[in-house]
Amino acid sequence: MDDDEIAMISKEGCIFYDFDGNRHEKESMHLDWEAAMTSRGGYPHFMLKEIHEQPDVVAHTLLGRVASNSVDLSHELAWTPEQISGWKKIHFVACGTSHYATMVAARIMEEVGNFEIRTEVASEYRYRNIPIGPDTLAVFVSQSGETADTLHAARLAKAKGAKCLVVTNVRGSTIHREVEEGLITPAGPEIGVAATKTFMAQITVLTLLGLYLSKLKNDLCPETEQRIVAALMDIPAKLASILDREKEIEAVARNFADARGFFFIGRGLAYPPALEGALKLKEISYLHAEAYPAGEMKHGPIALLDKDLPVVALVPKNDLWEKTISNIEESMARNSPIIAVATEGDSDIGHYSKNVIFTPETEPELFPFIAVLPLQLFAYYIARQRGCDIDMPRNLAKSVTVE
Ligand code: AGP
Repeated sequence: MDDDEIAMISKEGCIFYDFDGNRHEKESMHLDWEAAMTSRGGYPHFMLKEIHEQPDVVAHTLLGRVASNSVDLSHELAWTPEQISGWKKIHFVACGTSHYATMVAARIMEEVGNFEIRTEVASEYRYRNIPIGPDTLAVFVSQSGETADTLHAARLAKAKGAKCLVVTNVRGSTIHREVEEGLITPAGPEIGVAATKTFMAQITVLTLLGLYLSKLKNDLCPETEQRIVAALMDIPAKLASILDREKEIEAVARNFADARGFFFIGRGLAYPPALEGALKLKEISYLHAEAYPAGEMKHGPIALLDKDLPVVALVPKNDLWEKTISNIEESMARNSPIIAVATEGDSDIGHYSKNVIFTPETEPELFPFIAVLPLQLFAYYIARQRGCDIDMPRNLAKSVTVE
């Protein structure tokens, strides 16, 4: 429905009117969703079902958008290299988990191309005086397509002449109808209030978008494209291998269900998944969880650490491993228990933590894909142990349609 409409639903169909009683003729739209998608399918919670759907969601999101290790979005975005050269800035605008997905995208895009990017929370973007104009590509990311702040931010950017693009899971949602161009995340309906599979679909689409833009700008080295696309194609199998170790993650979570809160740390590409892991915990377990870039710890938050505040450290085996390890050592010196999310085969990590969640190796840029799933499970099992209402946490709505 559009704004200011009334619908009368009967066995014969649905008739739309405006508030003066005038009939509105509307075109029907086919949604590729089935009734079975809205059942729990044997899982105790929708959230767990949706976590388990993620290998398929990534595979489905890639379908038709990659071939022969190359990305092609030309059937969805009719953009020319000339047009793209006019966009000097890229703004990513979103709320909550969708915002963290844009932070992942921005970091990946910095690695693969040469972009001037800013990521903004929609409720800030719309009220600050950020320069927006025809030289701006503004990308709005919203699972529901109905988030009030994101929608208003899109209206503002459109009015200021920016080129606007929406990434949404709901075809025909308000933002999808209003913004000229869109990319759909085909994750299917997400019922659990805590977003899981839609985050995974968003980071998949946004990674492809980054590669595609970079390619059209002639900035993308073919080897990088092939390497990343090949690694993306492997992500579903890697996510499935993490799900095979669900029991181990559950066991780690059980050890910490009585903690008073959690501190998450990560550097570079490990920072956005740390934010998302902390948000999942807050939402469904009602425990305070805070995520920081690991290097910022010394600038204040380290004062919080003691034996009752576990630190979840995202420490992939990459160039920043030693730096993050030194932050782990600082935390250990304050008696904080460490839960490490580390790369399989990291034989040194055992010196720092007895609670290690191993993730499969992937290309460094794609670490967020495999880091987030164990953190979703970690939050889920802590919330379950604490008897929380996982699918409908208190004070939260699936879609925030008011300011
Ligand atoms: C995620 O777990 C939250 N429920 C919330 O942060 C959500 O991501 C945010 O409200 C944005 O929603 P949207 O993607 O539908 O715009």
